[in-house]
Amino acid sequence: MSAHRKKITVVGSGFVGATAAHWAASKELGDVCLIDIIEGMPQGKALDLMQASPVEDFDSNVVGTNNYADTADSDVVIITAGLPRKPGMSRDDLLAKNTSIVKAVTEQIAKYSPNAHLIIVSNPLDAMVYVAQKVSGFPTNRVMGMAGVLDAARFQAFIAMELKVSVENVNAFVLGGHGDSMVPLPRYTTVAGIPLPELMPAAKIEELVNRTRNGGAEIVNLLKTGSAFFAPSASAVQMAEAILKDKKRILPCAAYCDKEYGVGGYYVGVPAKLGGNGVEQVIEIKLLPEEKAAFDKSVAAVRELVKHLPL
Ligand code: NAI
Ligand code: 2OP
Repeated sequence: MSAHRKKITVVGSGFVGATAAHWAASKELGDVCLIDIIEGMPQGKALDLMQASPVEDFDSNVVGTNNYADTADSDVVIITAGLPRKPGMSRDDLLAKNTSIVKAVTEQIAKYSPNAHLIIVSNPLDAMVYVAQKVSGFPTNRVMGMAGVLDAARFQAFIAMELKVSVENVNAFVLGGHGDSMVPLPRYTTVAGIPLPELMPAAKIEELVNRTRNGGAEIVNLLKTGSAFFAPSASAVQMAEAILKDKKRILPCAAYCDKEYGVGGYYVGVPAKLGGNGVEQVIEIKLLPEEKAAFDKSVAAVRELVKHLPL
């Protein structure tokens, strides 16, 4: 019998990375390797997580390292290395610094795990996925970005809070880039199968849409020293799970679109089918003219960012 545990590497062991390791290990998705440039920190967090495993009863080996050789042969790599936002900073302010970080780590990951699926989290998201794909040279279906799951989760949470219903009843849809121009789609958002516009006045929906667009900044302003990490890490791990278990789950994520939606070769947030082959399909849905206009504006913002990439 051939035995092979799946292996998940998380690059960057800060708030998002360490919490992603926590979710992945506690769900027993496989063995987890945490890596960072800071010496001792990933080792310490990994050991701490291992010591949680007898209490929480999860059987995943978690190791921490500063050496990419230890990440070898990973099935999925979640890249969270980079600087987070501080109050007043836009995600785009992170562009230059995080490009050089994502470039450096992707080179190492591609060298040691040539068959891995890459899930990028570092901001500005849509540009960093582009960097990771170019630098790794991996096929586009094996490189994707996490944003839509988080943005949709925020919208879902706000809807459930407003309607005082279980979050389990709420299904939300968000398209476009992970920026202020993201496109939450109320028409495709349902509560127990009922379209949202039937349950909430338009003005209230608009308010929640705006809160979703500012969802990241709202948390940055509260935390003051960094950005959100519980929901972002959970979202990245949900994508990893869909791939590792070949679930064919449709999730909004930053996927490579060429002819799809007429994007022309960029990564943007679209509904994608995630399975053992990564992004197995981009689902194209019909958009109303105003939705299409908002989507195109969001794509234009991504294109502009990519143009300024110091690659
Ligand atoms: P953090 O500062 O807690 O952790 C980042 C870690 O990356 C640090 O431990 C740092 O030492 C490490 N790092 C820096 N350069 C590195 C390198 N060359 N190699 C390996 N590790 C390196 O930040 P946090 O809160 O974990 O956020 C990480 C990134 O994720 C940020 O860019 C943030 O903006 C982004 N983010 C994206 C979200 C999304 O929806 N796509 C949501 C939340 C955060
Ligand atoms: C967020 O949306 C900062 O992009 C990060 O929380």
